[in-house]
Amino acid sequence: MKFFADTADTDAIRELAATGLVDGVTTNPSLIHKSGRDIMEVTKEICGIVDGPVSAEVVATEHEAMMREAEVLRKIADNIAIKVPLTVDGLKTCKALTSDGTMVNVTLCFTANQALLAAKAGASFISPFVGRHDDIGYDGMNLISDIRIIYDNYDFQTEILVASVRHPIHILEAAKMGADVSTMPPDVILKLFNHPLTEKGLAAFLADWEKTGQSIG
Ligand code: E4P
Repeated sequence: MKFFADTADTDAIRELAATGLVDGVTTNPSLIHKSGRDIMEVTKEICGIVDGPVSAEVVATEHEAMMREAEVLRKIADNIAIKVPLTVDGLKTCKALTSDGTMVNVTLCFTANQALLAAKAGASFISPFVGRHDDIGYDGMNLISDIRIIYDNYDFQTEILVASVRHPIHILEAAKMGADVSTMPPDVILKLFNHPLTEKGLAAFLADWEKTGQSIG
């Protein structure tokens, strides 16, 4: 399963990229707002840090205007994936962009039927929002297993990009279900490293090593 960083914080992306764990980045208008930076400038910087897909979202709601914004955004770098909402105009835009080879991430997916539509429109990625489902009392991960079954039934190549991830259990379940990608806030990626027995074991090894009086090299 690929890991994308769900942030427009370039310092955090740079630090995580050094671990080799970052296969791509997703942004959205809220994350750009949070960064406090110009969308073109920050997106270009992100594209210089990671080689994989970097999602940049259009904010127009009508097809022609989405196409104009996509034209501007895709010139930022070769690894840009244009993010469009799961609407009629969004999927028209998806169809047009993917037909000429541009990567498209269809966002704001909340049902498996919506994911089916996105795949039929040729989406490169579908972004089901699991955390926002959990927030309103549904099990967001059910969406992932349903989409996996549907895509496998019809051999769709659209990658399932688990979005709105809130904690490591989402990642464990996504991996067991065979999701292609999970996009995570940096703090969730870092939480994946943690286990109290890892910390305790390391502390014990270091304490015993100290007692040997040795050093390596
Ligand atoms: C990423 O593509 C999505 O925009 C993001 O994961 C949404 O996450 P949120 O529900 O925490 O805002």
